[in-house]
Amino acid sequence: MENNALKYKYRNFINNLLEKKSTDEVIETAKKSELKKTLGAFDLIILGIGAVVGTGIFTIVGSAIVGGPEGAGAGPAIILSMVLAAIASIFSALCYSEIAAMIPIAGSAYTYTYVTMGEFMAWIVGWILMLEYAIGNITIASAWSGYFAQFLKGFKHILPPFITNFPIWLRNDYRSISIMCDRFDLDIHDKIPFLFDKIPVAINLPAIFIVVFLTLILIKGVKESTRFAGIMVAINIFIISTFILVGAHYVQPQNWTPFMPNGFEGVFMGAFLIFFAYIGFDAISTTAEETKNPQKDIPIGILGTLAICTALYIGVALVLTGMVPFKLIDIQAPIAHAMHYVGKDWFAGFISAGAIAGLTSVLLVYQLGTVRILYAMSRDKFLPRSLRIVNRKTRIPNLLTWICGFVVIIGSLFMDLNISAELCNFGTFTSFIIICIIVLILRKTDPDRKRPFRVPFVPLFPILGIVFCAGLIIYSLKTLKTSSMLFPAWIAIGIIIYFVYGYPAHRDKNRKK
Ligand code: ALA
Repeated sequence: MENNALKYKYRNFINNLLEKKSTDEVIETAKKSELKKTLGAFDLIILGIGAVVGTGIFTIVGSAIVGGPEGAGAGPAIILSMVLAAIASIFSALCYSEIAAMIPIAGSAYTYTYVTMGEFMAWIVGWILMLEYAIGNITIASAWSGYFAQFLKGFKHILPPFITNFPIWLRNDYRSISIMCDRFDLDIHDKIPFLFDKIPVAINLPAIFIVVFLTLILIKGVKESTRFAGIMVAINIFIISTFILVGAHYVQPQNWTPFMPNGFEGVFMGAFLIFFAYIGFDAISTTAEETKNPQKDIPIGILGTLAICTALYIGVALVLTGMVPFKLIDIQAPIAHAMHYVGKDWFAGFISAGAIAGLTSVLLVYQLGTVRILYAMSRDKFLPRSLRIVNRKTRIPNLLTWICGFVVIIGSLFMDLNISAELCNFGTFTSFIIICIIVLILRKTDPDRKRPFRVPFVPLFPILGIVFCAGLIIYSLKTLKTSSMLFPAWIAIGIIIYFVYGYPAHRDKNRKK
């Protein structure tokens, strides 16, 4: 008797974990959405470029070319790495387009997983998406801070030194400072103050400033946010295109040899790192509920963004590696440094301004994405109700928006740029794999539903997406020591939170319904 009760309980538990949402129910929810429908295809491309062109091409490209303590660099063959990363992205972009046009709802991969694989996997995917969005934003806020400090240095003849060269502990996290001290054999006690001689004090003030500033913009409303992103994107594209055009005059073809100094090992590692530069087009799908005509506009937004960005990146990579011998490329501000290298100092300042604009828009769109995903999770009663309460006038979930800003601020105090970027890449590759799997599942389980956009050559294309993304993850897990331990730890923490909070909260609220 007792045995039967136990069996029943166990079966019930497993059924709960696999409980799916119906696609019709999801589409109905989207129709009744409280979020305002204001975005068109053009807005989406602006949002997309705003989300994509940032830290990857302005900062991480340097490490991808030169290499770092945990991985070899691609050298001039960064072009091949970029093509690899673009291929891994394009298959997933096609899959995102098919699903987002079919199920236009705020939660992105989280909601799609809920419909196809059930509640437990959906939670895990939502949690992994936080790696991509919230942890990714820590990378971007740190890079923003770096470029901002560089930008201020350009005003050393006009502004007082305490502004143009303010202390390192007020513009960095502790880990970055200690790595720098190790590298240059400096005493960390000379660089940062210690409370009671024990607790190091490092506060990234520019990162805090920009996150608070953007949160205030986000609170104003989504249309206002895209308008702001639009201005930033225009500045950004102008500056990158000018770099390509001006830099092309300084290209010395002999810098392109040796083309693959670290062989395919360097190319693969470079592809894993530079993948960060492509992330972001998927953020478009998180605004599906706010899009006027999602069926048509979302595929145009996603694929258009990817095409424009790939063209820009290949141009930047060719010019950058042609201008500076690859070993001399700077890893903090490679593009601005390339201009210093050829003696164009004023242009370097101009590039820093563009980088600040680019990074600002990426931060903005990512904060928007974080809020939208958590909003969808809260609407499904996996997170507290207070997080889904929207302001009556702006329709923005204010509390949630502030919490997301706060998380990035706290993270920027403890995490450095490289670790957060690698974690973000692991998270994004995983979510891309899931998206490819979802296309395959839905084609089997829901073949008749209207698909305004269809991935060509199914199952080949989604399978290729899975192979490329999984290949790069496996390769990097073997090479990168720190983040390859933090990634499984992150997933384990997510599983614990689900069983301690999400699972019971979801059921509790259901009973009250
Ligand atoms: N692709 C975005 C960037 O490079 C995340 O900043």
